[in-house]
Amino acid sequence: MSMIVRRLSRAATAGLVAAAALTAAAHSAEAADTLGSAAAGQGRYFGTAVAASHLGEADYAATLDREFSSVTPENEMKWDATEPSRGTFTFTSADRIVDHAQSQGMDVRGHTLVWHSQLPSWVSPLGASDLRTAMNDHIKGLMGHYKGEIHSWDVVNEAFQDGGSGARRSSPFQDKLGDGFIEEAFRTARAADPAAKLCYNDYNTDGVNAKSNAVYAMVKDFKSRGVPIDCVGFQSHFNSNSPVPSDYRQNLQRFADLGVDVQITELDIEGSGSAQAADYTKVVQACLAVDRCTGMTVWGVTDKYSWRSSGTPLLFDGNYDEKPAYDAVLTALGGSGDPGDPGDPGDGTASCTATYTRTADWNSGYNGQVTITAGGEPISSWTATVTLPAQQSVSALWNGTPSLSGNVMTVRPSWNGALAAGESTGFGFTVAKNGSDAAPTVGTCTAS
Ligand code: G3I
Repeated sequence: MSMIVRRLSRAATAGLVAAAALTAAAHSAEAADTLGSAAAGQGRYFGTAVAASHLGEADYAATLDREFSSVTPENEMKWDATEPSRGTFTFTSADRIVDHAQSQGMDVRGHTLVWHSQLPSWVSPLGASDLRTAMNDHIKGLMGHYKGEIHSWDVVNEAFQDGGSGARRSSPFQDKLGDGFIEEAFRTARAADPAAKLCYNDYNTDGVNAKSNAVYAMVKDFKSRGVPIDCVGFQSHFNSNSPVPSDYRQNLQRFADLGVDVQITELDIEGSGSAQAADYTKVVQACLAVDRCTGMTVWGVTDKYSWRSSGTPLLFDGNYDEKPAYDAVLTALGGSGDPGDPGDPGDGTASCTATYTRTADWNSGYNGQVTITAGGEPISSWTATVTLPAQQSVSALWNGTPSLSGNVMTVRPSWNGALAAGESTGFGFTVAKNGSDAAPTVGTCTAS
């Protein structure tokens, strides 16, 4: 579909979108205690990166729609996705995300207009003059298509080198157009969609260091010369090699003091359990402590689709269960931290269930089997009770340690106490019917 046609059709459907957004807002007002609603209570958005290819997965969409108030297309608005050959724009996947977000009343962050990575192959060979034209045409084409629909755009992404020099990163734009390409991109972006907030976005700039100092100097210079910049994005990809900096809040604040908004744009923290939760708390608290920190975006909904494929850096696990990090974020946002039902992953409560089946049956007796399954947390031991009908008696028991009191048999593990979350074990027993064929009753399973 051509850019022009699609742009007109986006405008024509705006009324429908607005109506749907109102409905979604009404729903979310009823649903307390989500990341989005808790953040809204603090005057912030809480967003996530989204991949169009996962929107058809029911649990993915349900988690996204319930919890988040802003989305960032993870790859679908990048140059290779939107202008794979010069002057031919393709918006199908990005439109899918934007349409979905709007139908749920969510805002959209645009990511990203000018970046050295995920460039289609036709860009790099261009000469300087042609490259300048291509850059500006790309900004105009992409921003024009979504004019009025994007709350913040990452106009330029990752233009500074890592390390101590504070230098610009080598890229076709830097190498051929020089330092001025960033300023030019921001000026073109302002004209293309005056309503969008224009951000510079980078990583390893989260604390005070040579790289963030260089970005700081650029933003200060832009502000002093009236170059249109509204916000700075701090990607915030953290792990043990790159932990949450102790001066994170201070760094956000010094940028805010230049007169720009700050946003946490791609947050993820490798780890698990309470340590990961504590790190997430630090990040949320830092943002909330800075008035101009307008929102946070985590870089994905579920661990199973994270770009850090070997890590577990997000708030929902691969089954879309809330992790301790989720509860920590919700609590830090002032939401009434959901303690969860016993057995929910991340609730810290050891739990188990016991289910009974008769596995063999003959005239004078039967064999029973009780299956013990751990809840959402690992357990180290379990106890289950089996109450036999009055006439019956147990003649054998295996894979468990019984103690008898009248017709109530309390069974504890023999070798099989420790279970991972969701893992099962069981014990079996042989019963003499003594004239009664009734089934035993299995009581509540308790775990520690
Ligand atoms: O879609 C194709 C698929 O068809 C193909 O079979 C497969 C084979 O490799 O590749 C798939 O594309 C991958 C794409 O993600 C979608 O999954 C690309 O190879 C892969 O390179 C791409 O990675 C993205 C990465 O940016 C590229 O630089 C990640 O999803 C995305 O999370 C990541 O996001 C970046 C931000 O844009 C900027 N900041 C850092 C952040 C993390 O690296």
